[in-house]
Amino acid sequence: MRPNSSRKTIGNWGSLVTLPGYDRGMMGGAAARYDAIADWYVEFTRDWGTEPQALLPEDLLGQRVLDLACGYGTASRYLAGRGARVTGVDLSAGLLSRARQFESDQGLGIGYVHGDATSTDWWDGEAYDGVLCNMALMDIDDLDGALSTVAAVLAPGGWFSFSVFHPCYPGGPEGSWSGLLSWAPDRGYAREGWWSTAGAGVRGHAGANHRMLSTYLNAVVGAGLVLEQLAERGTSVPVTLIARCRRQR
Ligand SMILES: C[S@@+](CC[C@H](N)C(=O)[O-])C[C@H]1O[C@@H](n2cnc3c(N)ncnc32)[C@H](O)[C@@H]1O
Repeated sequence: MRPNSSRKTIGNWGSLVTLPGYDRGMMGGAAARYDAIADWYVEFTRDWGTEPQALLPEDLLGQRVLDLACGYGTASRYLAGRGARVTGVDLSAGLLSRARQFESDQGLGIGYVHGDATSTDWWDGEAYDGVLCNMALMDIDDLDGALSTVAAVLAPGGWFSFSVFHPCYPGGPEGSWSGLLSWAPDRGYAREGWWSTAGAGVRGHAGANHRMLSTYLNAVVGAGLVLEQLAERGTSVPVTLIARCRRQR
């Protein structure tokens, strides 16, 4: 457990850790979060599906695509397999080094860049036809910063697909696909911020930023992107929210 955090048991929710500064968002530092757990994360997610939660164009052949917050490159390799020319950017040097290992074994032509999704310091200035941010906006503390990067690096008319844990779903005990918590049960939906389930899964190890649905949608609009299509995936309840947006021509 992190220093100065408090642990308590809440009904059937298991053990919940609420960190000081919950409402401030910028807790810890995202690089440290995944660098510290890189080996564990790669092992834990090894058998997860490789297809991203995304609304992608049918034809990616030859498209220059950015995988924003690419982790160890699972979605990057999927995009490259569909013929895209892929760059992956991530804040975690530990995960990027695993992505580069895959690349040196498989030679898919993916370039990996160590950088912060909330700035364009790492960008070479050549516009992307599309940007994917797969299950990572909740890991990025500065949502507006990330979306303004997306708007900056996209070519006019370019697409952007992102997926997040469904922001409206209260979830259940951590550990099952349909049982992930989306926000701290003792805080309620409307209280946004970074928190950790303190469970055995990724959100127990890395935590997550909870944001309301309206926050995500308003941030997309605020970045000047046009919302094109939404999808919700899950069985008895929606687990992920997926969006496709477009930069205007
Ligand atoms: C749950 S992982 C998802 C990784 C990848 N998109 C995938 O689908 O496998 C979240 C990722 O977001 C990255 N991340 C968090 N904040 C970031 C930031 N500001 N800039 C770049 N990457 C960031 C983390 O390092 C981590 O690799």
